[in-house]
Amino acid sequence: MAILKVARLGHPVLRQVAEPIGVEDIRSPETQRLVDDLIETMREYNGAGLAATQVHVLKQVCVIEVKDNPRYPDAEAIPLTVLINPVVTPLTAEMEEGWEGCLSVPDMRGVVPRYTGVRLEAYDREGNRIDVVAKEFFARVLQHETDHLRGLVYLDRMKDLSTLTHLAEWNKYWMGLEEQDD
Ligand code: NI
Repeated sequence: MAILKVARLGHPVLRQVAEPIGVEDIRSPETQRLVDDLIETMREYNGAGLAATQVHVLKQVCVIEVKDNPRYPDAEAIPLTVLINPVVTPLTAEMEEGWEGCLSVPDMRGVVPRYTGVRLEAYDREGNRIDVVAKEFFARVLQHETDHLRGLVYLDRMKDLSTLTHLAEWNKYWMGLEEQDD
């Protein structure tokens, strides 16, 4: 396993679209190593999730986990989730605003509207089909990570940039002002 270098905003790889992985390649040593490295890198930098494009690999793989995360102390827990070729479809028109950050946009936070309920279709790391309904914070993280696989970052989803703030200023002026998901 290895801790990989995370691309920061401005690196062109973050704007590229990832390729799906062939189902027959999911269990290959190469894919399994990528999954392990994504998990290790996400945990090292306290990410809530990490997409392969963020570590310069244009494959449709992302990992999600929230557990005692110092970057998101109030977030609800999400067990370790490995997604290959994920497709996220909104189930309602309803959107909710919530704070997001991103390892590729270091030390920043912004309010992003996201669908409150989505259908997630994907494969897990063993090649099993996943088809579940996700809500609230998990739905938000899914939309954030799958956006990465399509060359989008959360800034693209903000309605306006007036809430975009450095983390230190967020702690000083914004934290606890309103109920937020994350
Ligand atoms: Ni991100």
